[in-house]
Amino acid sequence: MPGATGSGPTTPKGPRVSSDLATDRTPAGGATTADTATDRTPAGEATTADTAAAPTPAGGATTADTAAAPTPAPHLSGFPALAADRPARVVVVGAGGMGSWWAREIAASPVAELAWVADLVEGAPQRVIEQSGVPDPTVVGVGTDGVDLAREVGADLIVNPTVPLAHHPVTLKALHAGIPVLGEKPVTETLPEALSLVAHTELTGTPFMVSQSRRFFRQVRQLRSFVAAHGPTVLTSAFFSLFTEMEGYRRTQLHPLLRDMGIHAFDTARYIMDADPVAVTAHGARPEWSVYAHDATVTATFEMSDGSLFVYNGTWNARGLPTFWNSEWRIGAQLGSATWDGTGTPVLGTADEEDTARLQAEVAAESGEEPDQIAASLIEFVSALREGRTPMCEVHENLLSFAMVEAAVASVDRGGRIEIDELLEQARVEAIAAETDDRARDLLQSWTSVREALLARQ
Ligand SMILES: NC(=O)c1ccc[n+]([C@@H]2O[C@H](COP(=O)([O-])OP(=O)(O)OC[C@H]3O[C@@H](n4cnc5c(N)ncnc54)[C@H](O)[C@@H]3O)[C@@H](O)[C@H]2O)c1
Repeated sequence: MPGATGSGPTTPKGPRVSSDLATDRTPAGGATTADTATDRTPAGEATTADTAAAPTPAGGATTADTAAAPTPAPHLSGFPALAADRPARVVVVGAGGMGSWWAREIAASPVAELAWVADLVEGAPQRVIEQSGVPDPTVVGVGTDGVDLAREVGADLIVNPTVPLAHHPVTLKALHAGIPVLGEKPVTETLPEALSLVAHTELTGTPFMVSQSRRFFRQVRQLRSFVAAHGPTVLTSAFFSLFTEMEGYRRTQLHPLLRDMGIHAFDTARYIMDADPVAVTAHGARPEWSVYAHDATVTATFEMSDGSLFVYNGTWNARGLPTFWNSEWRIGAQLGSATWDGTGTPVLGTADEEDTARLQAEVAAESGEEPDQIAASLIEFVSALREGRTPMCEVHENLLSFAMVEAAVASVDRGGRIEIDELLEQARVEAIAAETDDRARDLLQSWTSVREALLARQ
């Protein structure tokens, strides 16, 4: 991992968790630090794995309940349920760094089967298949148009780790073909495009989940439970610092740190705090030694719906004392505080010493292996399709995480405070202007407000 030398000041030595960068650099078939973090569940353990990775049923957490993070009761989707007696047949669309990681996880998954891989670049699917670990690479099909391929062969779903620019066209086509989509973050390249996909998801009824891999860490779930029992929060911070000089689209992307990394922390913050963003004030910096054309150093302060503050500090430009890819966290709440170094067990604290010791023992005791990151994300999507329910990170739920990114970008660009609702409504105007489907345009126009439309489907 370039530049990732040394240890964070508060973090134990050990493998860094898998990351955007690590997944890009994983050699074919080789176990890496990324692989270490994405422990796989052996085939045949689907039931237990499903339970561990799936969102927990609705219900209140108690102080003693750090394992079961409360989530709202899932809605039924109305989409025909997927057969549960066989693995889901998957087309991976986009055979780059992340497509390679997805292919390995699908090949090893108890709930899915790597059936086809598509990419515009000749030879790319074959390379991804060869490193995936499938027993016979020759039986996995290849193509250039992933959605046409999925339609022709009757695939159960597509996974879409194409470049962000391609997320909208590929997903749009799949939704209208009735093929469920598990898309990579960010949902799209722009906010109007994201709203367009929300509208087309509603129109078609085809399930669309955005994979936010960081949500699926046990520690994130533990922190959410802790906050549910000790909140509301008042001040939460995530600090991310890692020197990188990545090749590829990130070098020329506008605001690459916010768009590539910020999204992870923003989505994690919403999940842990159980609060949504209201406004943001952000600043960016581009030191002369940065290889990125645009800001890869950012500070952003979000005002959240529960009146609390969430502060994000992130940089790809500072050498030494790197944090883990998950950032370092400090969460201050009414009845307790928590810190997390991004890889180990969270440290929990309340005003009561005995209570603190008991809580700490409880989180430390949860040490069994469970699928995390994209392996868990895949299980969540397939489980939801089998059960006919809305998955966690469904596009309506995901959109405000992306809105946090775009609002922070707008604040850096324009200066000053950006209200999320105002930005969403501007994006709706642009989405309506760009929309070529009359029904989708009518739907976008019919929303009382974007936020209400999003909340109505969660
Ligand atoms: N969750 C994570 O930890 C994580 C990590 C890395 C990347 N990502 C996300 O994954 C996505 C891909 O990132 P990457 O680093 O793998 O990029 P990449 O450039 O390595 O790969 C993208 C691939 O998509 C292909 N592609 C582009 N348009 C296509 C189309 N219409 N049909 C088929 N293939 C197409 C390209 O040819 C390329 O091979 C991004 O959205 C990124 O944000 C997520």
